[in-house]
Amino acid sequence: MPAEFAEPLARVGARLGLFAGRVTWHVDVASTNDVASRQAEHGAPEGTVVLANAQSAGRGRLGREWASPPEAGLYVSAILRPVVGAAALLTIAAGVALAEGIAAATGLRAVVKWPNDIYTGGRKLAGILAEAGVASAGPPHVVLGFGINILPAALPPSIAARATSIEGELGRPVDRGLLLAECLAALAARYGELQAGSRVPVLEAWRERAAGMLGRQVEWDAGGSVRRGVADNIDDAGALLVRTPAGLERIISGEVRWL
Ligand code: BTN
Repeated sequence: MPAEFAEPLARVGARLGLFAGRVTWHVDVASTNDVASRQAEHGAPEGTVVLANAQSAGRGRLGREWASPPEAGLYVSAILRPVVGAAALLTIAAGVALAEGIAAATGLRAVVKWPNDIYTGGRKLAGILAEAGVASAGPPHVVLGFGINILPAALPPSIAARATSIEGELGRPVDRGLLLAECLAALAARYGELQAGSRVPVLEAWRERAAGMLGRQVEWDAGGSVRRGVADNIDDAGALLVRTPAGLERIISGEVRWL
């Protein structure tokens, strides 16, 4: 692994929790989520992290492409085995952790947007793709993938108006290794809370970071029609609660458009 990553990971040390000593670096892969899934299916331990310099087939939620040019972003997947009760809030906790890690490493203030996007200045900075799987032996796992845009080069022209990057926002270079280390440390801490049965701190941190998004108009597709309402909150299971003329609607997954 390049010193750029090895040194900050060693400095952060024990704060890496379950990820300590479990990060492997790859020059180029199709998708870090695919590499981690294969490893999980073969019994790799919880906390295994796959980090790539570039992805040739990086993917986002809802079948979208995640542009992953060399060195332009962080492309990371972690193998987790959440206990019953922790899985539902995993991406909520990961969103909070990435915002915390980005702030700790770079000073950039980011907010979260349901279900699991990280935004700054109204544009997307990072995204999370959680994929559940089962191995032939052992407990079920979740591969938690995240991508953080660091250089404006991470952004294809088609999404440049809706997305941003850390260096584009700050106008100065950032330490990618420190960013990785602080994001993993924050994820270890938030995941640890969930695994210990403590949901309130994660939910409160998410609500605080989502304050600017709550109260906004949203629309979504349901049963062949477009529904509209005002985003109100998330419930204790991580579902989005939307106020509509017909009452409070609970959205568990899918795409919500923020108007
Ligand atoms: C999204 O916002 O749509 C989720 C984006 C997730 C991208 C990351 S990059 C590392 C990991 N490997 C992938 O192929 N996808 C995730």
